[in-house]
Amino acid sequence: MNNQGFITFEGGEGSGKTTLIQAIACHYEQQGRQVVATREPGGIDIAEQIREIILNRSNTAMDGRTEALLYAAARRQHWIERIKPALIRGELVLCDRFIDSSLAYQGYARGLGVDEVYNINQFATEGVLPSLTIWLDLDPEIGLARIADNQQREVNRLDLENLEFHQRIRQGYQLLAERYPDRIYRIHADQPVEQLIQIAIARIDQK
Ligand code: TYD
Repeated sequence: MNNQGFITFEGGEGSGKTTLIQAIACHYEQQGRQVVATREPGGIDIAEQIREIILNRSNTAMDGRTEALLYAAARRQHWIERIKPALIRGELVLCDRFIDSSLAYQGYARGLGVDEVYNINQFATEGVLPSLTIWLDLDPEIGLARIADNQQREVNRLDLENLEFHQRIRQGYQLLAERYPDRIYRIHADQPVEQLIQIAIARIDQK
């Protein structure tokens, strides 16, 4: 399975992934590439239904492993229905969150174990990793303040976690960046969006 066109975007809450992905998708479409811009959890109908369960604020009793398995289940369906076929067609896939979110949030921040969570995800994605992961690194205090200012954004179950949890997520990403130095590319997210777009495109073009 050729993962060359598979690029994921990671980061804590409010790090600006969505805006960045839209701009990058536009850039490559203008160059005549076929681009699939998608997100996790979700991206296709069955996975969007699983997303509703995971992020529902009333599901306060959800166990950490249940949460990790649901993310992996949503990922499996998204992978098989959307990402894998697009990669086989040679398209560029830009995915807002993927396996590293599970490793940082469930594996590291929730304390389930990065290797344990990696294993269930390997089952879901047949061991395929993105060829490049852009990590938008931002101080969680800034990220959380940004999403608090954004009235249109729904507040989900994970947003309700405290600052310490979000700091652990950042540490989790740091650890992953050390584990996968060739794959994960860190960008400081606290800079003008135009600059972020340029840096990300320059890195993608280098591949
Ligand atoms: P979303 O509203 O899409 O957040 P964002 O705009 O920050 O991407 O909600 C997704 C939430 O799910 C977010 O808090 C991160 C979390 N998440 C995990 O904990 N594990 C995962 O594997 C994925 C894909 C997301």
